Amino acid sequence: METSERIAQRLRQFGELEATTSPLYRRLAPLAAARPELVALLRERRSGQPPANVLLAALQRRLMARPEAPLRGYFATLGGTRAPDDELATAFDAFWPGELDALAGLVRTRRVATNEVRRAAVLRLAYVAVARRLVERERPPTAHLVEIGASAGLLLAWDRFAYRYGSAGFGDPDAPVTLTTTWRGTVPPDPHAPFTVAERLGVDVEPVDLDDPEAAAWLRALIWPEHVERAAAFDAAGAVVRRLGVTVRAADALTFLPGGLDALPGGLPAVVVHAFTVNQFSDAMRRAFDQALGEAARTRPIYRVGLEWAPGGARLELTTYPGGRTTLLARADPHGAWVEPLEDEPATTSR
Ligand SMILES: C[S@@+](CC[C@H](N)C(=O)[O-])C[C@H]1O[C@@H](n2cnc3c(N)ncnc32)[C@H](O)[C@@H]1O
Repeated sequence: METSERIAQRLRQFGELEATTSPLYRRLAPLAAARPELVALLRERRSGQPPANVLLAALQRRLMARPEAPLRGYFATLGGTRAPDDELATAFDAFWPGELDALAGLVRTRRVATNEVRRAAVLRLAYVAVARRLVERERPPTAHLVEIGASAGLLLAWDRFAYRYGSAGFGDPDAPVTLTTTWRGTVPPDPHAPFTVAERLGVDVEPVDLDDPEAAAWLRALIWPEHVERAAAFDAAGAVVRRLGVTVRAADALTFLPGGLDALPGGLPAVVVHAFTVNQFSDAMRRAFDQALGEAARTRPIYRVGLEWAPGGARLELTTYPGGRTTLLARADPHGAWVEPLEDEPATTSR
């Protein structure tokens, strides 16, 4: 088991190296590292969970229930306006000792698994590319949409959002969610319409039910305190998903595939999308995933859209089955803050 010293070291390291976009977490992580009760509590977290992210999300979650706590004034995602200052440590120590039991309950049970709405702005490029390919094959630009690793299903509602890429805008300007992304292309975004969704379905080994207030609050508490735009997009997209009634089935990707796709009404292709999910798979799982999609393509064309982490920018790839030919469509910020489109040329690699 990980020692307390190792956990404290990971908290300090998070503050020094990882919390680059959160001045508040840069300060809170080393404060927590110096509090043995908090470090001891992290020894009980679920296996594989990063200690700083779990603890800081648990703190933010408990602060949601404590509007009077001075510490809350530092959390912009909770309406706070204070920058970290000399009184932060006092506010921190006035808060956590009375919350130890509640924090422990969260730390023991919760996972760090976010659902990033703005990734939809990156995925949309692939959905336009799918529509183009369908039209080229003289098919209607309509397909089923299945997300593997869908979490709460926020990305499945992408066609209910509006988008802004620099000066170019798409979607209903009155949509409750507008996702704004920096466009790093030399030419404006392709104005071609994306494909139309027939059936939509999420699959996740541990789905998040937005109708469960605790589960929804935990997902929001994972958003770092300075990321106010992400929190607002999360709130608005969550409301859209609840209204839409998106289904996220509890299943492992490799149990669901390929047979799960057969249950979709016939005659239409399926777009199988995954974002920041397959990079958690072992090599053997990735091969099995690829093979399962190849098998599913015996009954319908499959368009696989992958947005997965890579050094220098996540890769947006489109793979068509049968055949398994992949095109790199874009590079992007992991949270969708920018997107750099690449030539939509066929087949940069073949699987
Ligand atoms: C980092 S989250 C990304 C969620 C969402 N795709 C997004 O980009 O916002 C990864 C999700 O994949 C799910 N996941 C991981 N392994 C899986 C598997 N083998 N089968 C199905 N879901 C899986 C996790 O439970 C988690 O909800």
